[in-house]
Amino acid sequence: MNNISIEKFNVSDLEQIKVNLETEFDNFWNSNILEKELNSDTSFYLCCKLDSEIVGYAGITIVLDIAELDNIVIKKDKRGNGFSSLLLKELIKIAKSHHCTKLNLEVASNNEIAINLYKKFGFKQVGSRTNYYKGVDALLFTLDI
Ligand SMILES: CC(C)(COP(=O)(O)OP(=O)(O)OC[C@H]1O[C@@H](n2cnc3c(N)ncnc32)[C@H](O)[C@@H]1OP(=O)(O)O)[C@@H](O)C(=O)NCCC(=O)NCCS
Repeated sequence: MNNISIEKFNVSDLEQIKVNLETEFDNFWNSNILEKELNSDTSFYLCCKLDSEIVGYAGITIVLDIAELDNIVIKKDKRGNGFSSLLLKELIKIAKSHHCTKLNLEVASNNEIAINLYKKFGFKQVGSRTNYYKGVDALLFTLDI
């Protein structure tokens, strides 16, 4: 049986997925941007490991009592197994432990799967930005935590 764990996402972990980050995960952040985030004092990143394989990662930035979900992505061939839910659950715990009162995020209005994930966790839509992503609106969601 495979062992699933949620761990701090370190720069050394990034080395493992650098080569396939843009092809097998997602292409909206490259490894340089991600590395910068992993080194930031205000960011908290977790990865999901299946045995020793990194199958996803997610991170928040905390400013005062507000946390912002920066990124959540699961390897394409590992989606639909509950991994993003595990990551989000742990990030909410981290935000709470830093006395955050809200977790905010932005999502493309056509990203139905991500929107389903956020609604499942109780996020509520609080606004939108027209044409934010090259012709696609951004929806703003928030969760009281
Ligand atoms: C969005 C994403 C992170 C979901 O990860 P995942 O590990 O596959 O999601 P989970 O298996 O934890 O499923 C969580 C919920 O998402 C929704 N969901 C997942 N797969 C779905 C699908 N194929 N169709 C519709 N809803 C789906 C469901 O609500 C699901 O809850 P349920 O299983 O109780 O029904 C993943 O699809 C991904 O990496 N997408 C590309 C990156 C991205 O768009 N990130 C969000 C940026 S805002």
